[in-house]
Amino acid sequence: MVIAGPASENLGNSVAQLTGSHAVRVENKIFPDGESYIRFEETIDDEVVVVQSTYTPQDKHLMELFLILDAAREQGAHTITAVVPYLAYARQDKQFRSGEALSAKTVLRLIESSGATRFVTFDVHNTDILTYSRIRTVNLSAMPAIAEYFAKLDLKRPLVLAPDVGSSDRAKAVAEKLGANHDFFEKRRDRVTGEVRTVEKSIDIRGRDAIIVDDIISTGSSIENVASIIKREGAGRIFAACTHPLLREGVIERLSRAGVDLVVGTDCVRSDISKISVAPLIADAVRE
Ligand code: R5P
Repeated sequence: MVIAGPASENLGNSVAQLTGSHAVRVENKIFPDGESYIRFEETIDDEVVVVQSTYTPQDKHLMELFLILDAAREQGAHTITAVVPYLAYARQDKQFRSGEALSAKTVLRLIESSGATRFVTFDVHNTDILTYSRIRTVNLSAMPAIAEYFAKLDLKRPLVLAPDVGSSDRAKAVAEKLGANHDFFEKRRDRVTGEVRTVEKSIDIRGRDAIIVDDIISTGSSIENVASIIKREGAGRIFAACTHPLLREGVIERLSRAGVDLVVGTDCVRSDISKISVAPLIADAVRE
C-alpha cells in the first residue's frame, strides 16, 4: 500500500502504479484555524509506504507527515517506510553557533518517533545527519533521472559543472551517464549575510553546452555565479538542473538574465519546473 501525502500526491500515485501497489485514498483538509486534518478512507495494511515531501510550507508538510505516520501505526501498520523526497531542516546539520537548535536531528527523530520504521530521502544536504536516525535510512540520488533527461537533448560537447565541491560527485554522476566531462567550482558563503561568492577559474567551455547540477536551487545565487562566469568564457547553451527546486520568487527570471537557457528540477519538490520524475527511482528502492 502506498499512502501519498498532500505534498506528493502525484509522485506517490506514480510510485503505487510502478510498484503495482494500491494507493490509499487520503482525505485531507485545513481547519479554519490553520490546523491539518488527515483521514485514510480505507483500512491500512501491515506494510505501507508513505510518500510526503517537506518543501515550503515546511512546517505544514512536516505536520501532515507526522499525522500520516502516526495514524498508519495506530491503524495497524508495522512496517512503515517514510519516503520524504525533500527533507526540510536538513541544512541546519550542525551547531554553527553555540546555543543553536540542531534541526536536522530534531526532524529525523520526530519522523522516527511518529512511526516510521524505514526512511528514504533524496540528495540530502549532508549525509552525516542520517546517523541521527536510529531506523534504516537510504539516501537516493536523483542524478540518474537528471542524466536521463539530458540524454534526450541534442547537446554539443557537454560539460557538466557543479557550483561547489559538495556537488562535484553529482556532476560526475551525470557526466558519466552522458559520457561527458565534468568539473566543479569553489564557493564561499558568508555565514552572516548568506552571500555567495564563486571563485573564478579558467574552464574549457568555449562553444560547448553546459549543464550545471546541484542538490538545491533556492535563491539561485550559486547557479547564477557559475552561469555568469561560463557565459563570459563563451559557453554555448547553459542548462541548470537540481533535485530540489525550492525556488524563491523571481529565481527563474534571475537565472535567465544570467544566461541560463533552461532550468529544470525533479518532483521531489512540486514546482513549475519539476519536469523530471523520481518515481521510478523510489519504485526501485521500495522493491528492494
Ligand atoms: C548548498 O551548498 C547547496 O548545495 C546549494 O548549492 C544551495 O543550497 C543553493 O542555494 P542557492 O540557490 O540559494 O544558491
